[in-house]
Amino acid sequence: MLIANPRATRTPYPEELRRILSIEKAEQSRSWLSCWDKISSPATPLRELPGLAAELGIGGLSLKDESMRSVLGSFKALGAPIALVRLILRLWPDHGLDPRALFQGRYRDLLTHFTVISATDGNHGKALAAAAQTIGCRCVIVLHANVSVEREAAIAAYGAEIVRIAGNYDESVEEAARLASVNGWHVVSDTSYDGYEDIPRDVMQGYGTVAAEVVSQSNGRPDAPAFTHVFLQGGVGGLAAGLISYMWEFHGAHRPRFIAVEPQQADCLYQSALAGQPSRATGSVDSVMAGLACGETSPLAWKFLQPAVDEFMTIRDIDAIDAMRVLASGSEGDIPVVGGESGVAGLAGLAVLLRQPELASQAGLDHRSRVLVINTEGATAPAAYEELVGETAESVLARQTMWRADAPARQL
Ligand SMILES: Cc1ncc(COP(=O)(O)O)c(C=O)c1O
Repeated sequence: MLIANPRATRTPYPEELRRILSIEKAEQSRSWLSCWDKISSPATPLRELPGLAAELGIGGLSLKDESMRSVLGSFKALGAPIALVRLILRLWPDHGLDPRALFQGRYRDLLTHFTVISATDGNHGKALAAAAQTIGCRCVIVLHANVSVEREAAIAAYGAEIVRIAGNYDESVEEAARLASVNGWHVVSDTSYDGYEDIPRDVMQGYGTVAAEVVSQSNGRPDAPAFTHVFLQGGVGGLAAGLISYMWEFHGAHRPRFIAVEPQQADCLYQSALAGQPSRATGSVDSVMAGLACGETSPLAWKFLQPAVDEFMTIRDIDAIDAMRVLASGSEGDIPVVGGESGVAGLAGLAVLLRQPELASQAGLDHRSRVLVINTEGATAPAAYEELVGETAESVLARQTMWRADAPARQL
């Protein structure tokens, strides 16, 4: 399903949005995050996939590979950690805390009795747990019924205490809020709600690092973006808002066309576009794309999506699984890439549109299009990855290494 957003504009980046998310703050977050040993250095690769681009019939396809961002396996390593640091700076304003030293665990004594809590579908919770472990505070993670045991173990490995509930994601968000208010803990959530915006704002600001790197790696100029289209997968909308804000501020009215992609069972952004306001998903909110299985749009993210996303679309689970296999295989001589279930959703959306000429033309896609997709996670649930792709992530990575070793021969 694809709909054009009647509220999309092509103005310079509005000042009221710049007061919330800005390139300046994104760059500050980026420099603080670079002091954390869980963030890989240098920038994650921007991979060219010419074989797949030719097969799909577009002019170019670039994939920003966030599976390489961190040992944590996803771009979420950029969100919760920076929000936690900024929260601590706000709570202890008179201590002259150095954010870089926080990322080196130098204030553990001060923070031993400080507890943070969040609901999660996996990646956000893992990033928060890992950051809390480094910084030296306590972390409680609330998991809903559909989070796999494999994802639970990955979070617990970073020292978080796990609370499992019988309900869905939205109920886990409510339970985290309840536990926080009863115990005097602090919620570090990636989604906003009434009266709760500072932390999700900081989470989204952290994601700006991805856009900052893309702009510099692609030599994008303000008036000449390297890409005509950017496909952004959506859970609550935070990833999309973080990237859109940066690119919109940088390119202004020349910004690329943004297309938001969600699972059809968790279509809260699509429903928001129909309603013209943050809305709930209509489906079961249960998808193989675990990171995108969110029932409610983040109202703060929606402030950025409503005026800037040109098209909203939904995909089926099978579309994501196909895209995982295509990326892993290394289509037509391209580099093999490990893309997780939610990681490949943007690419899956692109492939769905290009299979249907009417939809491709509605989205302005043709042989001249230069498209950017973000592989937001690697095999964050390795057993699920192997089952869906028919090959382990290690084996795909081994083929990737061989591909790189052969690269000089291919260029001859
Ligand atoms: C791998 C992955 N990609 C994309 C998203 C979507 O991010 P958001 O919920 O901020 O829209 C998530 C969210 O958890 C995720 O884990």
